Amino acid sequence: MVDLSYIYEYLKRHLSYERYAHSMEVGHIAEKLAKHYGCDIGKAKLAGLIHDCCKEEKYENLVGYAKKCGFPVDEESYKIPEILHGPASVYICRTLFGIEDEDILSSIRYHVTGRENMSIMEKIIFIGDYIEPSRKFEGIEGLRALAYENLDTAMLCALDLSILYLIKKRRLLHHDTVDARNFLIDRFTQI
Ligand SMILES: [Fe+2]
Ligand SMILES: [Fe+2]
Repeated sequence: MVDLSYIYEYLKRHLSYERYAHSMEVGHIAEKLAKHYGCDIGKAKLAGLIHDCCKEEKYENLVGYAKKCGFPVDEESYKIPEILHGPASVYICRTLFGIEDEDILSSIRYHVTGRENMSIMEKIIFIGDYIEPSRKFEGIEGLRALAYENLDTAMLCALDLSILYLIKKRRLLHHDTVDARNFLIDRFTQI
């Protein structure tokens, strides 16, 4: 049984006020999206709430946690360190929060990059993280509406925006993000 009061306390102690508020908002949107798409509401809310539980940890801790839960901390992840808080958060969720549900854990693991053939829960957390109320970028209102019309189209749109942003900044693309987009493009062109 997950101890929610312990989780809230942990988040308050380990996250800034802004990140804590962001986590609550992602939990809230994940709950609404799960209701809309007939997913497990409790799991979605919990996954949204804890998806960034390691986001403000020191780099050395992120590497250690990610390794402990079997994530390959390879050259690609050294070059794109912002992806590490996904798998590192999985470690905290397993060891401190006692969460073993793979649907929740994989949605946290892949919330930064996405991946090929994502589950509905993974898409809900990815999109919830993208459209929560504090996010501001051109086109966000359209994406917020799209999230309730077609989750795959919303995912493709969010991935396009992320990839374009990274290209403009001349930053590396993680292979999982490219795979996530290619998978969706492939599916859309087969319809
Ligand atoms: Fe994150
Ligand atoms: Fe987040």
